[in-house]
Amino acid sequence: MKSQAQTISLTRTIGLTIAVLSISALSLSACAQPTAATVAPVVDTKNTLLKDAYQGYFPIGAAVAANEYGLDSFTSYGDGIMSNFNSIVAENCMKPGVIQPTEGSFAWTYADNLVAYAVAHGMTVRGHVLVWHSQTPEWMFSQTGTQEERKTATRAKMKSHIDAVVGRYKNNVYCWDVVNEAISDSDSGSIYRTVSGWFTSYGDASFIQDAFDFANAAAPTAKLFYNDYSVVNSAKRARIVKMINDLNLKSHGLDGVGMQAHWSLSWPSIQDIQTTIDTFHDMGLDVQITELDIDCYSNSASMNAIPYSAVADALTARYAAIFKCLRDNKDKISAVTLWGVADDHTWLDHMIGGSYKNDVTRKNYPLLFDANKQKKAAYLSVRDF
Ligand code: XIL
Repeated sequence: MKSQAQTISLTRTIGLTIAVLSISALSLSACAQPTAATVAPVVDTKNTLLKDAYQGYFPIGAAVAANEYGLDSFTSYGDGIMSNFNSIVAENCMKPGVIQPTEGSFAWTYADNLVAYAVAHGMTVRGHVLVWHSQTPEWMFSQTGTQEERKTATRAKMKSHIDAVVGRYKNNVYCWDVVNEAISDSDSGSIYRTVSGWFTSYGDASFIQDAFDFANAAAPTAKLFYNDYSVVNSAKRARIVKMINDLNLKSHGLDGVGMQAHWSLSWPSIQDIQTTIDTFHDMGLDVQITELDIDCYSNSASMNAIPYSAVADALTARYAAIFKCLRDNKDKISAVTLWGVADDHTWLDHMIGGSYKNDVTRKNYPLLFDANKQKKAAYLSVRDF
């Protein structure tokens, strides 16, 4: 799994390369781990849980690690922190490469534990993810024979994977990211991400229709999502709209669009978030915020680490503004999920200069609890509105 993670190169040239904040000017040292941040601990006199504050708005979710990368979120954070959330999603353990690493051999334990925790604690579970170009084993993509033969063989593997995974959790996973990140980041001949095992094995985008058909058949009552990043970028959003229309995805069971929401301190604008929500709502689709976190760097490749104190105020204000917008859209949004719980474990520590660097760390502060698992001011700014 790690080697696949290493190959992830999410080139977020859209939007994320917009220079947003001259963080480098704030750098105190050239090492990747800043010295201790001096931010006064938050005093919480209310102790209301996030999920209770958002009753009447939308469920609040978090991505969790189930004994992956040395972290088990449930034991690490305990029921106290976890009880802020009434929904969870697997950060990795339901991905194809983890759950079916070799053909026909399923690693159910982590996902089973995750679902059991949710059931025991009255949480809903988002399913992530069925069809993605990344963290998917090569065996799923047939490399031999004619294009038609490759498509047929790959289609059969997709179907058996979706039947098994969606079928196993059909009573407990209420929605699935059926297809993730299938759209191109640039106008380069095709609206689709053509450098993808799914696209090349099929030879066209019909794998997306198959994925929705198979998921719909395996769990007819589950909500089915197309999920992507930089959806707020108008050109990418237009490509997603075109895909939904060209492939007639609603007739294949598409219920909604997941906006990953890997955002930064100043990108995207609240107006662009609003326009995006409206665009999909007006198409008769549900909208979910599926992977919200706030990159405190300007996505530069610099390894200069900044201390939390340099960005804490901006992060607090940013979270307040984003959640105000989301609350204003509560009738159009059915769930908001953060991509993690606390800053001690965030993939953004490895997202440097727009690509995932497994062996390199630059401390980031994207979540609502800090690296010591304490509430941040951002937590209060989200909860106390
Ligand atoms: C990330 C995880 O957080 C990392 O632990 C893993 O190494 C790579 O994937 N978009 C997605 C998520 O849909 O699955 C990705 O999660 C982040 C980007």
